[in-house]
Amino acid sequence: MTVSLKTPQEIEKMRVAGKLASEVLDYIAPFVKPGVTTDELDKLCHDYMVDVQHVIPAPLDYAPPGYSPYPKSICTSVNHQVCHGVPGQKKLKSGDIVNIDVTVIKDQYHGDTSRMFYVGEPGIQARRLCEVTYECMWRGIDEIKPGKHLGDIGQAIQRFAESHGYSVVREFCGHGIGAKFHEEPQVLHYGRAGTGLELKAGMIFTVEPMINAGKAPIRQMADGWTIVTKDHSLSAQWEHTVLVTDSGYEVLTLSDGAPPKPLFHS
Ligand code: MF3
Ligand code: CO
Ligand code: CO
Repeated sequence: MTVSLKTPQEIEKMRVAGKLASEVLDYIAPFVKPGVTTDELDKLCHDYMVDVQHVIPAPLDYAPPGYSPYPKSICTSVNHQVCHGVPGQKKLKSGDIVNIDVTVIKDQYHGDTSRMFYVGEPGIQARRLCEVTYECMWRGIDEIKPGKHLGDIGQAIQRFAESHGYSVVREFCGHGIGAKFHEEPQVLHYGRAGTGLELKAGMIFTVEPMINAGKAPIRQMADGWTIVTKDHSLSAQWEHTVLVTDSGYEVLTLSDGAPPKPLFHS
């Protein structure tokens, strides 16, 4: 396994890309309202990225081995959709929860981040799932420091999710990121403390737990991309791109509209 350590020049470019990705989410937030279609959100984000930010939307035509080229510029995963939801003509309605996942390429480097949005007023269970998943992501991030291991991140996330009766999706994980969208290492959102790769300053990877209100199994839809929960339970996800620093970590995908690190609940 070859996990690259980014140079100071690369890190500076990743800071720029990360902030731009987060600013796309700031931009789109007020448009996430009952009646809007996910296609409309995709078009708005696409035009903002291309015309205003002068970045490349990394998902568009992205085709990893075994996949057809991704047809849109963002991913929109609604309710029981886990990840990689392909925007379409269906209107969002009050009570829906939607993950919007944005990846930009600026000056050849990637920034990758996602947030959950409430459409109108969320139900109590949907809100709880989104809040717990947010804290899962941050509990994982808060483990990051040179000398710690990837398993520390996974355990922190899994423990907190399962303590609420939720389950962690196994088939998708965080990933190294840089001049490539998906690099080594794989960052599992479950595991055992002290196991796996030892973290070193200069590594950059995402933490992006997908947490289901029901059981963990998932299935892929006929479009070849959209992932849904097998039991149709609600699913939530949040994502940040994070740099390992000498003393801990630096979250690269922050902007004025990004919600703050939460207080940790027991
Ligand atoms: N942004 C997703 C991630 O966090 C990947 C989406 S791949 C796409 O890794 F092609 F669906 F956009
Ligand atoms: Co990612
Ligand atoms: Co992403």
